[in-house]
Amino acid sequence: MPDRPVRVLFVCLGNICRSPLAEGLFQQKVVEAGLAEHFEVDSAGTGGWHVGAPADRRMTATAARHGTDLSALRARQLSRADLDYYDHVFVMDKANLHDTLYLDPDGDRSTQVRLFREFDPEPGDYQVPDPYYGGDEGFETVFAIADRTTAAILDRLRDAYDL
Ligand code: 4NP
Repeated sequence: MPDRPVRVLFVCLGNICRSPLAEGLFQQKVVEAGLAEHFEVDSAGTGGWHVGAPADRRMTATAARHGTDLSALRARQLSRADLDYYDHVFVMDKANLHDTLYLDPDGDRSTQVRLFREFDPEPGDYQVPDPYYGGDEGFETVFAIADRTTAAILDRLRDAYDL
């Protein structure tokens, strides 16, 4: 068991759709498992357009229908310091992976940066589709992906850290 909380960060482009949902779902599962003191969870966007904004209301509404509250979350931009601080960074697509690794050109930080859907039992093309410019069904698809993938990530981290 680690001597401090395991630090987990979810990253997408805007930090208003996919990564806040992943943060909310993962945190909810952590609390339900009685592990709140063992994890520190946040999300960030590689882009800065929405800094300070709440999650997209379509994402918030979809999550609320499924019993997950995103209302307190506010967007922030990923920084180089995050790559020192967090133990695990899970990114939503390959553009996010590129932009995140670009902040650490020497690759000498110990943070593990991985595609979120590497842990999805049904990984498809390993990317979480961006629902921002699409219709409502896109948000339901993203919810299903994020729900099962956050469950799988929590299982993996519990194993890895003996929690
Ligand atoms: P997210 O979705 O990366 O899942 O938060 C997006 C939100 C906003 C924009 C793009 C993607 N945008 O270009 O403003």
